[in-house]
Amino acid sequence: MTSSTPPAALPGNPYGQNGDPYAGQHGQYAPQNHPHEAQQQQQQQHQAPQPHPRSAGGRLDDLHAITQRIAANVERVLVGKPEVVRTALVALLAEGHLLVEDVPGVGKTSLAKALARSIDCSVSRIQFTPDLLPSDVTGVSIFNRQTNEFEFRPGPVFANIVVGDEINRASPKTQSALLECMEEHQVTVDANTYDLHSPFMVIATQNPIEMEGTYALPEAQRDRFTARVSIGYPDPQAELAMVDEHAGHDVFATLRPVSDADQVRAMIETVRAVQIAQEVRRYAVELVSATRRLSEIRIGASPRSTLHLVRAARAQAALSGRDFVVPDDLHVVAIPVLAHRLVLTPEAQASRRSPAELVRGLIQRVPVPQAAPEMGAQWSVRR
Ligand SMILES: Nc1ncnc2c1ncn2[C@@H]1O[C@H](COP(=O)(O)OP(=O)(O)OP(=O)(O)O)[C@@H](O)[C@H]1O
Ligand SMILES: [Mg+2]
Repeated sequence: MTSSTPPAALPGNPYGQNGDPYAGQHGQYAPQNHPHEAQQQQQQQHQAPQPHPRSAGGRLDDLHAITQRIAANVERVLVGKPEVVRTALVALLAEGHLLVEDVPGVGKTSLAKALARSIDCSVSRIQFTPDLLPSDVTGVSIFNRQTNEFEFRPGPVFANIVVGDEINRASPKTQSALLECMEEHQVTVDANTYDLHSPFMVIATQNPIEMEGTYALPEAQRDRFTARVSIGYPDPQAELAMVDEHAGHDVFATLRPVSDADQVRAMIETVRAVQIAQEVRRYAVELVSATRRLSEIRIGASPRSTLHLVRAARAQAALSGRDFVVPDDLHVVAIPVLAHRLVLTPEAQASRRSPAELVRGLIQRVPVPQAAPEMGAQWSVRR
């Protein structure tokens, strides 16, 4: 975000409307790079107001308040990492899945557990090990001698939030059982198909692949994750706060839910209704397709990642209190959404280039959409 005036009521909040230069600026302050907004505004002014039980603004206010509570709750557990918590919320609201990748002991599992607890949804946790079978994830059909029929015993994937811990310790076969569920939101066992819960989010943690006893997640499987975050070490101040907070007691013992599945479903609906203008959509496509033309990259980002990028940008816009996406939203989510899908050439690896740095370069180089010429003076709405 380009500006971040901390709101008075909620100090240090990185999510709120007050930190967003575009928030609430539908009319005279619509950003000049986004002609659609001025157009929409003009159209809205000429239409009679539609009766609706909850206005877009009202729903965004609800979303803002609820996500603030969730973020504050999670940050009680994961100290000093507000950006990581925001990305987790983006993935949740974008109906996506989150991959948390980092070295041991930086709070990966804690993040997943704290988010799950905060939204009071059904949660299951799978500790991936090399001997875990696909049916240990999806469930299994068991023959019932009394009824002479097979009965399906659902596996741990039948929950709203599935915490897949150390996913890269499982065999590829078991990993792919989970990843199919993620893509299709359903499970097929013995020719019967069962729908998974809604909302459904997998938060998988993994240690970097070079660590002992791990199987790398293949590219096709990484592509199923909307976003990847690395948590990183806390700064000394946050680490000290963690010691103060965590040393005396188990912080999870006092962590209470601050939302529920109905609220999460409503927030997801609000995010789905966030507008994204044609020019901004085109810009998203351009950013993604530019990854495929980079000489440092062997495999660029997929069309699936374009969909994920747009959904994540919608969630980011809603978290910033807007019902329309601006290019900045794409910029904020581009690295978590795209970087983990890019496969570098051996030369780029040897020269220690990083996918995140390449995405950052594209954000700087790919032209940001300008006002459409046909809109002329209509769009010359400036601050
Ligand atoms: N930034 C942080 N804020 C608060 N607590 C933290 C932070 N980083 C680590 N911890 C604490 O360190 C401990 C280990 O965290 P956790 O088990 O979540 O790590 P992990 O990344 O999942 O490790 P592993 O890779 O070994 O599974 C927990 O008690 C957790 O609360
Ligand atoms: Mg862990």
